[in-house]
Amino acid sequence: MKYPFHIERTETSRLGSVDFKNLAFGKLYSDHMFVAESKKGRWTDCRIIPYGNVPFSPASSALHYGQIIFEGMKAYRDPEGKPILFRPEQNHKRFNISAERMAMSQIPLELWLDALNELVYMDQEWIPENPGCSLYIRPFMFATDRFIGIRPTEFFKFIIITSPTGNYYTKPVKVIASDHFVRAFPGGVGFAKAAGNYGATMLPLKEAQLKGFDQVLWTDGNEHKYAQEIGTMNVFFIIDGIAITPDLDGTILDGVTRDSVMQLLKSYKLKVEERKISMEEVQTAYEKGLLEDTFGTGTAASVAPISHIGYRGKVMELPPVEKRIYCNRLKADLEAIKRGQMPDLFNWIVKVKSKLILEEV
Ligand code: COI
Repeated sequence: MKYPFHIERTETSRLGSVDFKNLAFGKLYSDHMFVAESKKGRWTDCRIIPYGNVPFSPASSALHYGQIIFEGMKAYRDPEGKPILFRPEQNHKRFNISAERMAMSQIPLELWLDALNELVYMDQEWIPENPGCSLYIRPFMFATDRFIGIRPTEFFKFIIITSPTGNYYTKPVKVIASDHFVRAFPGGVGFAKAAGNYGATMLPLKEAQLKGFDQVLWTDGNEHKYAQEIGTMNVFFIIDGIAITPDLDGTILDGVTRDSVMQLLKSYKLKVEERKISMEEVQTAYEKGLLEDTFGTGTAASVAPISHIGYRGKVMELPPVEKRIYCNRLKADLEAIKRGQMPDLFNWIVKVKSKLILEEV
């Protein structure tokens, strides 16, 4: 291995205390985590250690200026019970795009894959098997320079934690189109998985929830006219037999699930358009009975049907989820592919292998 790993196994596994039949999203963390340090562009001190608190200076620039990026991925077991990952190189590519925008260290692909493989291999018993469940993987990086002036930083920590997890949404999602707050502007960081993109959505989310909705449907900052994303997900509208999703104009996250869903929709012979879509277009389609489906896509949420869209004081109610074709078919196919239960026609599945732990767990 180009980046040598130090491994310290936990002496007290928490596995036995987990209720795998009742998993919520993101509440439990598995026994181990991966940690590495970047010092002036060089990655060192790669280690897999027991999950726990991480020491860093209170002067770390991440804490003061939000120089933090992250990814979301999932591990599953294939029908033989072996651990598998879904498109891990896509997340690596996006992590480095986020890192570049936030002036942070690039992660070499070899380090990314070695860290994921060794960690997931070691904690493979933590991968849940029930439908809708998976081992959510959260790689993240933050700046640890002990300097509270502003300057491009040189010291970073890269950590991966994993979490046995259930469905992100347990019911169809009610969204309200934003006519005040903005998630992302061209030239900003909307395309990056920067922590601040999410921190800034908490107040709008709180306000949406007070109005009886679950999430915000983000619109552009100039006119609040065009749809951007929903909560933490990309958005798709199916209008009169055509799937439409906002194009990657710099404000939209280049979702791995978004891309996978587009490929699946094309394989179903549906026309897919990546373009600006105005809320007026959505409303007109709704009024004419042509808005067949709306759903969000993301790693955590997979494919999340939208039940209601609030827009300018009115609420559009979408067809009952059980009557919709696409969100259901996409969700079922994606889940089956990710579990190795369907032929992997797109070469998305990667078997988890260990270079270090030679004995089978
Ligand atoms: C994901 O889908 O993995 C995300 O990043 C959403 C997360 C913020 C919960």
